[in-house]
Amino acid sequence: MTTRPRTPGPNAPAPGKLPLTELLEMKARHQPIVMVTAYDAPSGRLADGAGADLILVGDSAAMVVLGHDSTVPATMDELIVLTRAVTRGARRPLVIADMPFGSFQVSDEQAVENGVRFLKEAGAEAVKVEGAGPTLSRVQALVGAGVPVMAHIGLTPQSATMLGGFKAQGRTAEKARRLLDDALALEAAGAFALVLEAVPAPVAARITAALTIPTIGIGAGVDCDGQVLVWHDLLGLYEGRAPRFVKQYADLASEIRRALEAYAEDVRGRRFPEEQHTYSMPEEELAEFEAALAERL
Ligand code: KIV
Repeated sequence: MTTRPRTPGPNAPAPGKLPLTELLEMKARHQPIVMVTAYDAPSGRLADGAGADLILVGDSAAMVVLGHDSTVPATMDELIVLTRAVTRGARRPLVIADMPFGSFQVSDEQAVENGVRFLKEAGAEAVKVEGAGPTLSRVQALVGAGVPVMAHIGLTPQSATMLGGFKAQGRTAEKARRLLDDALALEAAGAFALVLEAVPAPVAARITAALTIPTIGIGAGVDCDGQVLVWHDLLGLYEGRAPRFVKQYADLASEIRRALEAYAEDVRGRRFPEEQHTYSMPEEELAEFEAALAERL
């Protein structure tokens, strides 16, 4: 009997890709998980080069890239394009696509259809969904269909209106207990990780200790298993008011403004382009061209 050579199946990780199961081991080793958002290929490449473990193509794109006032208007087609760009740039980090508002709320079938699109059309390794309650059966359905799911509770921007605005969650004993119950239920439903957003640090620490899967905090204290920040917040590219939990590591907006103003001044002063930015042609060809022009006049 001959054995056929084994080739990786469609769900096999690309060579060099961080295995999803490694996240559990990182939690067990108390090795912090680094996650950052990104929305295009160069950012995906830079995040990869800087050693990020996870890249989230967040529906925050609606605000920081597309100029909306909230994440609600983000569409599947927009997120597919952005995710596809990030997966072209990022090699090692797992790329997680955020399921936008309206892409999974209707039914388990709708969630699976759209989750599968992110894996097949955009090359993502996993998706993220906000909320608990009805989201639990979506998580089960997605995982059952082979789509790895990151869950997200606490401040869930897609339902910010129902939460009374963009504010911290779980600040009473009763609300903290509900968050813990939701976290445990999402783990039981099959989520491989959980984002905790704008949750008091002691509550996040206790949820982290109670779960086997890693927690990724954003405004949830240092005891989460990992941290995530939005690209534009981290780099000082977003000029709106940043939430309390943002640490800005650069002021790229100022740097970009300075560069654009210098460029505009050079263009207006005819200092750009210089010799090294232009193409020449052989003298005799130029002479022939000028002779042809003269004949026309
Ligand atoms: O959309 C996003 O960027 C997010 C992160 C803030 C976790 O959901």
